[in-house]
Amino acid sequence: MAPARILVPGCGRGHEAVHLDQDGHDVVAIDFAPLATVHAQKTYPDSTVDWRVADFFTFLDTGERFDVCVEHTLFCAIDPKRRDEYVEAVLRLLRPGGSLIGVFYAHGKDGGPPFTTTEAEIRRRFGKHFSFPLVEVPRDSFPNRAGKEILVWMERLD
Ligand SMILES: C[S@@+](CC[C@H](N)C(=O)[O-])C[C@H]1O[C@@H](n2cnc3c(N)ncnc32)[C@H](O)[C@@H]1O
Repeated sequence: MAPARILVPGCGRGHEAVHLDQDGHDVVAIDFAPLATVHAQKTYPDSTVDWRVADFFTFLDTGERFDVCVEHTLFCAIDPKRRDEYVEAVLRLLRPGGSLIGVFYAHGKDGGPPFTTTEAEIRRRFGKHFSFPLVEVPRDSFPNRAGKEILVWMERLD
């Protein structure tokens, strides 16, 4: 992938953000838990990731726009009642033509967090504003998540 401006929301300990940083991307990683970003910075002192303490649902007030948003277990961590807000936040953060690349948790059980989802729900919630170049069950999940994850690459249409 060509160097891109990437947002990693709900970055936690920051492993994905650092991996993308090492690949040459311009990465902003946010988490609303201050300790998460403190821990990430301590673990990866040499990374050039721009770590920020911020809430994904209000971060968009900065007016920044990204080429790519990388989702890994934030969607399943938030209250499912906020999933429409999540879609709106992604739309405001991505430039037109930008991508959301995510691994969505589809464990199929009641309750959470983590809260489950399905391919049908993802297509329903995002489909009005995104095309889906890739939707597949990853073949290299950790054994305890095998068959319970959905890898999705979606591109913003408008
Ligand atoms: C399950 S962890 C995933 C961490 C990381 N993405 C990973 O896969 O290792 C979810 C993270 O999202 C953060 N989070 C939850 N709601 C958030 C919000 N509204 N804004 C920013 N971060 C949030 C939590 O603090 C937590 O670090």
